[in-house]
Amino acid sequence: MMEYTDVHFRHLLHLITPTMELWSEMVTAMAIVNTKHDPFYMRRFLRTSRSNGTVLQLGGSDPNMLREACEVVLENMSEHGGWTGVNLNCGCPSDKVSLKGCFGARLMENPELVGECVSAMKSVLDPVGIQVSVKCRIGVDSADTYPDLRNFITTVSQTSGCRTFQVHARKAVLDGTFSPVDNRNIPPLKYDYVYRLKEDFPDLSVTLNGGVNSISDVLSVAEACKSRGGGLDGVMVGRGVVAQPWYWCTSGEVLYGGERGGGVKSRRELIREYGIWADKEEEWEGSKKGRRRILRPVVNIFNGEMGGKRWRNRIDDIMKTAGSKRKGYKDETGDDTKLSELLEKALEVMEPSIVDQTKEETMEIMLLKEEIIQGGTDSGGGVDGVAREAIKVWNEERRERERLIKEDEGDIEEDALRAGGG
Ligand SMILES: Cc1cc2nc3c(=O)[nH]c(=O)nc-3n(C[C@H](O)[C@H](O)[C@H](O)COP(=O)(O)O)c2cc1C
Repeated sequence: MMEYTDVHFRHLLHLITPTMELWSEMVTAMAIVNTKHDPFYMRRFLRTSRSNGTVLQLGGSDPNMLREACEVVLENMSEHGGWTGVNLNCGCPSDKVSLKGCFGARLMENPELVGECVSAMKSVLDPVGIQVSVKCRIGVDSADTYPDLRNFITTVSQTSGCRTFQVHARKAVLDGTFSPVDNRNIPPLKYDYVYRLKEDFPDLSVTLNGGVNSISDVLSVAEACKSRGGGLDGVMVGRGVVAQPWYWCTSGEVLYGGERGGGVKSRRELIREYGIWADKEEEWEGSKKGRRRILRPVVNIFNGEMGGKRWRNRIDDIMKTAGSKRKGYKDETGDDTKLSELLEKALEVMEPSIVDQTKEETMEIMLLKEEIIQGGTDSGGGVDGVAREAIKVWNEERRERERLIKEDEGDIEEDALRAGGG
């Protein structure tokens, strides 16, 4: 997501939930090609903070330019880290890209060209095993029926061999009457189109996107698709993660089972770990250029909690101290306190019980809140009921596991006492 999912935000999310696949902001192929000799931009556009599970999204509509951008990506892999996938954006509704550049969602009007673009990208990336995918809408303007979407997917997959699609389940209106924000909110979500895609193309990988804001929502859409005989290959969450990154801390455990969990245990640990990253990054970029961008990902980590606004204001105050021309840590007041220390100090505006709340406690509180919002316990039957039930079962199993571990520890202690002659 432009202005959000840069390397810093992705690093924060990686600390919270290491198993989640992460996506870059859209970078235009032209920007990559034009700056390929500039180490600053190569680092900014092409760096990942982990070796696996990150997708780079490209914008463009010129097959040659996209091919060259992919070559530049490959050339930079050893220095800036690995991408598991490269995606072509066919969903951005902004005038800037849909009118002038004629890419983004506008590309859906020309599936043959999308096929050529993807073929060009695959010619570079297939040999090294990097997957090329396409993210699109369910349609544009009046070409918004399910057959229109099916034709798009058929042409792109048949002409290029593309096997992986991410579908934002609302159409884009490109006649100039809608702003990008309108285009993300006003056209109605039609999950049904995405479920039908999975039925019609069982061999393609289909990810659903749009309006999924909670783990229950993820489970609901997965269940709804399954109940129709298909099975989604992924669910993509945008604004829901940006608004409340910490909320997703148990997504690995809940969605994939215990062994796929991991990540930090609390937000105190998160800030400690992120502080290590922040110091290194600020040392490299200098506080003037880097501080605001480095701090932006942590702004929302207490959203929805008591004191969340105090935290946001505190981070905003630290952002304002970004140095003028001085290098290194120094901020404009001449203070050279490291970001890690400023972040740890900022935690003092929050209740310790919130800062130290474990992931499991967070999930229990969320569950409670959801039940209060939805007016009671399990609705019994509907897909939402199924989703909530799945989370509840996970939670009960977790409590049981913890109880057994405690029992075990008690036994071991008793054994040790006996062995010691007690
Ligand atoms: C600020 C912002 C920036 C976005 N930037 C991108 C982008 O660079 N590439 C993209 O494919 N989608 C982008 N999107 C769209 C989201 O990826 C997603 O498709 C859309 O918001 C619907 O999903 P959601 O309801 O989970 O947010 C952006 C959305 C927002 C709000």
